[in-house]
Amino acid sequence: MADARRGLQGRFRLPRRHALLGGTTTTRDVTTAIRYLASPRSLVDGPAVGIFERSFATRVGAKHVVSFAAGRMGLYGILQCLRIGAGDEVLVPLPTHVVVANAVRYTGAQPIYVDCDLSNYNIDLERAERCVTSRTRALLVQHTFGVPVDMGNARALADRNGLHLIEDCVQALGATFNGRQVGTFGKAAFFSTEETKTISTTMGGIVTTDDEEMAGRLYAFQAGLPAALRQPGGPLPAQACHLPMEPAELRGERPPGFARRLSNGQAAVGLTQLAALEANLAHRRRIAEHYQALLAPHGFRLPEPPATSRPAYVRYPVWVEDRPTMQRALGALAVLGTWFTSVLEEAVDPRYQGYLPGTCPRAEDAARHLVNLPTHARVSDRDAEEIAARMISAGR
Ligand SMILES: Cc1ncc(COP(=O)(O)O)c(C=O)c1O
Repeated sequence: MADARRGLQGRFRLPRRHALLGGTTTTRDVTTAIRYLASPRSLVDGPAVGIFERSFATRVGAKHVVSFAAGRMGLYGILQCLRIGAGDEVLVPLPTHVVVANAVRYTGAQPIYVDCDLSNYNIDLERAERCVTSRTRALLVQHTFGVPVDMGNARALADRNGLHLIEDCVQALGATFNGRQVGTFGKAAFFSTEETKTISTTMGGIVTTDDEEMAGRLYAFQAGLPAALRQPGGPLPAQACHLPMEPAELRGERPPGFARRLSNGQAAVGLTQLAALEANLAHRRRIAEHYQALLAPHGFRLPEPPATSRPAYVRYPVWVEDRPTMQRALGALAVLGTWFTSVLEEAVDPRYQGYLPGTCPRAEDAARHLVNLPTHARVSDRDAEEIAARMISAGR
């Protein structure tokens, strides 16, 4: 469509607004999904799950991969398998998504919130170390927007204090630190294939680990879960529908049937998405570099990745002084992403998850000022230029 627009030399421009959703879903994914929906016997269980898990393991360079119906369920599984529960503390970076804090709380453990470093919205590791107590069992680090955390320092902090290191790679599939893929540094890591992430199976989560004992426990945990589909045995359209968030989760409550397995049909879609991952990542990196080159000379505050890292921007975060004005300026052209408009994204009130307002002031600031620009396959260089031009004329 971008070519058609160019061909018309701007005279009869088709209205087109860049959404942040669905940027990676292709016609092939849709036909794959329809094929599985039409054959209920292979929709839930089948060989695609194992094949997807092995392909993912090969791509990330992890020994074991265990899939779930969402990333949050993967984190919950990791914590369960580490026997983390009541009386324990887990260091949780802010900003993050409410479901991350929920997964910790569902085990009975207490999330201890750690503020971010505003240079890239990743955890402030010095601050994290000051939060360690005799009850701390794990350090959770999140590669925010696809910018890797300094994993050398994170590993050292975890080792010094005898903590399990867990990576939240939900926004960072394909990113590297010191030439090594994120998701391979800690005891375990989790990814998401929810529809707005680097690859999509509409909803989905993947755990990676190199630890044999953890892997055994995770496979056992997965085997004990019900199927991904919401109403197995019900009418097909009802089985296929998914809710990214249950209202109870937004309030910090645990919905019934919280943890589930990935379905065979979703895994089949995941395989077609994985096959296109390299082109997907190359495109996202090129668009992010384009935003960076266009916006940096105008004084926008842009993320600063660690020197030895290679980010994989699922979205490109930009700090703006006046977010509503920027949203209005971009309105007809792009849906400006608003991940992290709260220290606990989508929470009804972060206090329900035990967050004390004022304790992570940088994350609160980020929540007031961040917009996230789309990087997915449907965003062309020209689109990035138009988005940047409008941001520049709207002012920082
Ligand atoms: C940083 C982060 N971690 C974890 C999650 C949870 O992933 P999922 O929706 O697959 O449970 C999200 C969701 O958007 C997220 O943004």
